[in-house]
Amino acid sequence: MQKWLLSLAALIVGFSGVSAFAKGEKIAQQVCMACHASGVDKAPKIGDREQWAPLIAEGQVILTAHGYVGVRGMPPKGGKPDLTIEDFSAALNHMVSKSGGHWKKADKVTLEAIKNEILAREIVQKNPNK
Ligand code: HEC
Repeated sequence: MQKWLLSLAALIVGFSGVSAFAKGEKIAQQVCMACHASGVDKAPKIGDREQWAPLIAEGQVILTAHGYVGVRGMPPKGGKPDLTIEDFSAALNHMVSKSGGHWKKADKVTLEAIKNEILAREIVQKNPNK
């Protein structure tokens, strides 16, 4: 294919979608793979559809929020305190896409819902009578 045609194709696909995907992959490799590549401490292994199916079924908002807050061996923000919700979400979307699901880049409304779920989850975790 001609080079200019490839550039045109990239333009048509849309910069934001493509770069968000590449970014998610990069973050997943840098932050999440340490545990999710091999399944350290029961971390759901990337590519293991059986392990991911019930998680994916929880939905993008819930799973992104719960992962971000942390659960048991899963450290908050994947153990990277400065990781934004957007970046965590992009990395998770990449793992999901390799594990039998397909989530779109979180838009404004989805990000708001994720933030609300994070707040709710943090309150539950801090409450000893949960
Ligand atoms: C230090 C190891 C470690 C790193 C780094 C890590 N995880 Fe995890 N993660 C785990 C473990 C262990 C679990 C399983 C927790 C459980 O259910 O006991 C898990 C579970 C999860 C879950 C499922 C949460 C749920 O509600 O059951 C998600 C989503 C997730 N990780 C996303 C990520 C993302 C995205 C990154 C990178 C930004 C990341 N993890 C980095 C160890 C890690």
